[in-house]
Amino acid sequence: MLDNKTVEIIKSTVPVLEQHGETITTTFYQLMFRNHPELLNIFNHANQKQGRQQRALAGAVYAAAKYIDNLEVIIPVVKQIAHKHRSLGIKPEHYPIVGKHLLMAIKEVLGEAATDEIIEAWGQAYGVIADAFISVEAEMYDEAENQHGGWEGFRGFVVDRKVAESEVITSFYLKPEDQREIADFKPGQYISIKLEIPGEKFTHIRQYSLSDAPGQDFYRISVKREANTQNPDGVVSNYLHDHINEGDILKVSVPAGDFVLDTQNTSPLVLLSGGVGLTPMISMLKTVVNLQPNRKVTFIHAAANSGVHALRDEIEEFSKNHNVSSYVFYDSPTEEDRKNHRFDVEGFVTKEWLQNNLHAGESEFYFCGPVPFMKAMNRALKELGVHEEQIHFEFFGPKGDLDQ
Ligand SMILES: Cc1cc2nc3c(=O)[nH]c(=O)nc-3n(C[C@H](O)[C@H](O)[C@H](O)COP(=O)(O)OP(=O)(O)OC[C@H]3O[C@@H](n4cnc5c(N)ncnc54)[C@H](O)[C@@H]3O)c2cc1C
Ligand code: HEM
Repeated sequence: MLDNKTVEIIKSTVPVLEQHGETITTTFYQLMFRNHPELLNIFNHANQKQGRQQRALAGAVYAAAKYIDNLEVIIPVVKQIAHKHRSLGIKPEHYPIVGKHLLMAIKEVLGEAATDEIIEAWGQAYGVIADAFISVEAEMYDEAENQHGGWEGFRGFVVDRKVAESEVITSFYLKPEDQREIADFKPGQYISIKLEIPGEKFTHIRQYSLSDAPGQDFYRISVKREANTQNPDGVVSNYLHDHINEGDILKVSVPAGDFVLDTQNTSPLVLLSGGVGLTPMISMLKTVVNLQPNRKVTFIHAAANSGVHALRDEIEEFSKNHNVSSYVFYDSPTEEDRKNHRFDVEGFVTKEWLQNNLHAGESEFYFCGPVPFMKAMNRALKELGVHEEQIHFEFFGPKGDLDQ
């Protein structure tokens, strides 16, 4: 336990660090990667360049520090991060490295304002926060390894089938190389894939939501090719599309994540997705109709047009057979799409549409998609009076703030 004086110092210096938040964490990453380049095998380089990870880590450290004398309050947040850490393989021995470089960065950025007393207090506070993460993660590692079909670290999976689902999205059906059982998962969870790209110095780890129902002898992921923007092409998604074929082996960690469908809740369920954000939604859709056959389910998917609309036939067929209300929104339909009535609504999913077509106030909402889509959905639902507890979402990257 920290003494009162230390707690006081931490609480009074949080605002100062928050003010310098991103400068400190940017400095921290530079120092840490200089001294420990091997950590570049775990961290996503693109997230570093865009500052997304900086914001996520800074936010988490300060949030934790604010509750340093009552860390119970932030355990749900710790758990969400711990799922990601576990899936990446972050271990207790990594924590002192992060702690040491965080303190070095605080010193460097604050200069003389960072007295020995302040540095000592933050050293102790980091220790307490790190212990909370380490103990939550220890339980998760234990469960991942010891559950039926579970394993430690990354296990080899053969690409059993590779299926193009649209111009930009391709599915990979993965079966374990050792042909033994695989761990089950909850709909909405993801796996991490670790790639060793020939000629590249570091490995690359990325998360992919499982896009088919649980309880089968394979995992399916559906990957969007990240290309054709002014930024460099995405490393892993392009490599998977261009170089990973049937028969190749991918390294996979046990399914993780706390964005999962609550099948105890019986309120009408609305699954909303934009683009490749449909992957966790399909898994939820296929699960809910089995486990809760009487639950009212609405599946809403938004895409530009049929060219990039993945898994269209699969969802259409499934929805028809299971009495699910399914709606397709295209914001840039082609002439063919119009002629063949390939979509239900032209344009974006709007608050007005949600208001007119759903009993929003009584429903549970799960959504995933590009950040602007998620912000629009979040805003619309809140304006319709949907309570925060009824709104669930997944970021396909470090968690951000949808209210900003
Ligand atoms: C929980 C979770 C579930 C996910 N599920 C899925 C899924 O089901 N399907 C799916 O396709 N994806 C999913 N993702 C996203 C996935 O993990 C990858 O982030 C995605 O495939 C891109 O990885 P990449 O290596 O191709 O791109 P990266 O190399 O990581 O690049 C990411 C983006 O940054 C841009 N970029 C690269 N360098 C720079 C730079 N210097 N400056 C600015 N921008 C830059 C790239 O153009 C690209 O758009 C999920 C992510 C999470 C966290
Ligand atoms: C108490 C200390 C730590 C805190 C508060 C913290 C916080 C976070 C947060 C908030 C995220 C983003 C999660 C998300 O929204 O998906 C994250 C991800 C991550 N963390 Fe930590 N973390 C800590 C320790 C560590 C350590 C010790 C390591 C390993 C050296 C590590 C490696 C990572 C990696 C690799 C990611 C994913 C980043 C990416 O892909 O860009 N973290 N962490």
